[in-house]
Amino acid sequence: MASSANAAASGRFQVGGDIPVHRLGFGAMRITGKGIWGDPADAEGARETLRALPGLGVNLIDTADSYGPEVSENLIRQVLHPYDGMLIATKGGLTRHGPDIWQPLGRPEYLRQCVLMSLRRLGVERIDLWQLHRIDPKVPREEQFEVIAEMRNEGLIRHVGLSEVGVEEIEAARRYFPVATVQNLYNLANRKSEAVLEHCQAQGIGFIPWYPLAAGDLAVPDSVLSRIAARLGASNGQVALAWLLKRSPVMLPIPGTSRAEHLRENVGAAQLELSDEDYRALEAAAS
Ligand SMILES: NC(=O)c1ccc[n+]([C@@H]2O[C@H](COP(=O)([O-])OP(=O)(O)OC[C@H]3O[C@@H](n4cnc5c(N)ncnc54)[C@H](OP(=O)(O)O)[C@@H]3O)[C@@H](O)[C@H]2O)c1
Repeated sequence: MASSANAAASGRFQVGGDIPVHRLGFGAMRITGKGIWGDPADAEGARETLRALPGLGVNLIDTADSYGPEVSENLIRQVLHPYDGMLIATKGGLTRHGPDIWQPLGRPEYLRQCVLMSLRRLGVERIDLWQLHRIDPKVPREEQFEVIAEMRNEGLIRHVGLSEVGVEEIEAARRYFPVATVQNLYNLANRKSEAVLEHCQAQGIGFIPWYPLAAGDLAVPDSVLSRIAARLGASNGQVALAWLLKRSPVMLPIPGTSRAEHLRENVGAAQLELSDEDYRALEAAAS
């Protein structure tokens, strides 16, 4: 399956109603150092992974200024610029003070700096999808939304996404700008954002589940997941991704890896069709 893998088989979604992408994308958080800090241990391996994306039909790439920080955006620019037919979605609003440390900062002047610096690093005049990494609880959210709306009106941002938000926050933000995507933790084993997903589907908002490969206890040997995977000649990860793709037409999974062989395997999930019976068995096992 992996040799002819192509993300086109995952189907299409129009981000913001006008940027077509294949639904199975790529998360570029793992092409950095340990703790998402500094350079990757194998920089050439990370570049090889990025180079493989176009040939595999992957045209939705998720990154953030804070991955490294800067490392992920810089590598993407080095390898993929000028991004022919690709949507490079980045994020801002989290500061980094060391490995695995992430602190939100939503002051409007900082969010503006995030966007201006991502534009410079990515080498573009407008960011097609800019996501607020977190709403900073220490800053009135209206101030954060206002500056994002301003930057959108100025043409620095084409579409806006949010991350780790609830339905009420999505609707509060939509008073300032259309919300094109929502990126929340979601996978077969963790479905706390089910209500948000339902809302996104009803509103035509793309839902980007992060940590999509985690299948937790469902992936242990002789589990429902591993039995289905063995029968289909697929990996547990591929089945977890195929389940996500079948879950909703607005689902845009972005499995992340630093290794080209893992990328090929993950993209292979696009071709994996789960029967309704297997889909329901996985859902039942998860709940
Ligand atoms: N919005 C947010 O707050 C937020 C938070 C976290 C992540 N994200 C985004 O979501 C993306 C995905 O999340 P994630 O990276 O946490 O989770 P993930 O994609 O579910 O899992 C990534 C992990 O799985 C491993 N892996 C990937 N493919 C594999 C394969 N075929 N076989 C074996 N191991 C494999 C990777 O290691 P290898 O490198 O060794 O393959 C890595 O350790 C990130 O890249 C980032 O863009 C967003």
